[in-house]
Amino acid sequence: MAPRLSVGIAGFGNVGREFVRLLLERGDQHGLWDRVNIVFIADSKGVILDENGLGREVLLEALSLPRGGLGRYQGLGHEGLHVDELLDRIDVLVDITPSIYVEEPPQLKWLRRVLEGGGAVVTADKAPLAMNCAPLLGPKWGKKLFYKATVMAGTPLIDLLRYGLRGRRVKRVRGALNGTSNYVLTLIEKGLSLAEAISDAQRRGYAEPDTSIDLHGFDLAAKAAIVSCTLGSPVGLHEVHVEDRIEPGIEKRVKRLRGEGRRLRYIADICMGHKPVVRLAELEPSDSLWNTTGVMNAAEVVTEEAEPITLYGPGAGPRATASTLFSDLLLAIEELEGE
Ligand SMILES: NC(=O)c1ccc[n+]([C@@H]2O[C@H](COP(=O)([O-])OP(=O)(O)OC[C@H]3O[C@@H](n4cnc5c(N)ncnc54)[C@H](OP(=O)(O)O)[C@@H]3O)[C@@H](O)[C@H]2O)c1
Repeated sequence: MAPRLSVGIAGFGNVGREFVRLLLERGDQHGLWDRVNIVFIADSKGVILDENGLGREVLLEALSLPRGGLGRYQGLGHEGLHVDELLDRIDVLVDITPSIYVEEPPQLKWLRRVLEGGGAVVTADKAPLAMNCAPLLGPKWGKKLFYKATVMAGTPLIDLLRYGLRGRRVKRVRGALNGTSNYVLTLIEKGLSLAEAISDAQRRGYAEPDTSIDLHGFDLAAKAAIVSCTLGSPVGLHEVHVEDRIEPGIEKRVKRLRGEGRRLRYIADICMGHKPVVRLAELEPSDSLWNTTGVMNAAEVVTEEAEPITLYGPGAGPRATASTLFSDLLLAIEELEGE
């Protein structure tokens, strides 16, 4: 039997915990416990670590620990131990930490180290990819980087573009890819003010604490950069042109459009041969992105060969995102086992 692969999980928040729940629920079905050792789970303050693999009972108990509490776990917990110090011990890194939009996101060096060492990465974290997609998704490392949770969370747009449409000519992808802005605009359509809609979204855990990430286009620009790079046209986050923001005063425009039977959505437009654009689009009911109420996402993929393809599904949520990461973990394991 092939030796088991060592897996490290960085991030044990909303999505990270749901991901571990899925491992526990579905691991047996995929023979996972004979194929991998979960060597560590990490939060911002520490880790639970066992070189021989964390037992299922340890993973289960970890789920009842408070946030930032992994390092205090009796026996196997190490407070103050960082992911950086553990990367040499794993074959697969699952990065479920917050996206940090700086030139060199700290997680970027994690990804580089694991990929450089011949390992694989599964990630929900947009920033390292959006800032540096060309080398990460290039021929050297791209095959071992699995990132479909970064765009549309629970809906596999990235796999459609990467595998499903291989050999086809994609001309354009247009998407309502930010669940929070769809949700906020839906509430404004119902008569709420922007401030009321934002606080509702925050109460439900949809909006990032820093609302500019969702409402000033960072999240959409990051997704546009990742999609463009997936299509073989690398652009950095700062090259995406953010034309509009969602700002106070938008209520009037939403109300006017509603009266005209139209609606406003914050979209990313990735047209091959042009720099991606993030803008507010005034949609007609016939538009394939029309039906994006709540946190649902939609993407229209235009190819040279046939009618456009529309993908519609959950663009946020811990369970949806974790199940996509689970799917990518299986792909990563297959890739490494096949070597
Ligand atoms: N939530 C969604 O619906 C969704 C959808 C698609 C993609 N994503 C992406 O998934 C990622 C996680 O989202 P989330 O909602 O789970 O966030 P979250 O609840 O804030 O969890 C983040 C986790 O990362 C940990 N962390 C932070 N810095 C770390 C570090 N340096 N080393 C190790 N762990 C660290 C945090 O530790 P503490 O517990 O100590 O704070 C926490 O456990 C983000 O990149 C997000 O953009 C989320």
